[in-house]
Amino acid sequence: MKKNQQLFRKACAAMHNAYAPYSNFRVGAAIWADDGNIYVGCNAENISYPCGTCAEAGAIAAMVAGGAKRIERILIVSDGESLITPCGACLQRIKEFSDDNTEIVLSDGEQNFTVFRIFDLLPQAFQEF
Ligand code: THU
Repeated sequence: MKKNQQLFRKACAAMHNAYAPYSNFRVGAAIWADDGNIYVGCNAENISYPCGTCAEAGAIAAMVAGGAKRIERILIVSDGESLITPCGACLQRIKEFSDDNTEIVLSDGEQNFTVFRIFDLLPQAFQEF
């Protein structure tokens, strides 16, 4: 099975477990990490809204906990109508563990994939000059 298909399946499984009673918008993320493993996350909302966490943040935390260092590819899927791009904070999180080749794959529910690099989505990321 192709990498994007594998990530899609894992991201969808995570998305179905999302806890999103406030937005009713489920998101799943799956990372292909440099250790060859797949790490997943979903959004986990909170009655105190700002405490909620994004799917990408969960997947990155799982990757770090698992001992991997870099994101080779991350796929994001939601139960909305179309593709979603990661929020600004998650782009900064992805950047921390990415390089120029890291693929950010956006998917709809029909496995239509659109691929970006971090520079496309966060060209002027925070850094010290
Ligand atoms: N959400 C994510 O999980 N990832 C994103 O990149 C954007 C938004 C979640 C946060 C919230 O639980 C719901 O989607 C609606 O914004």
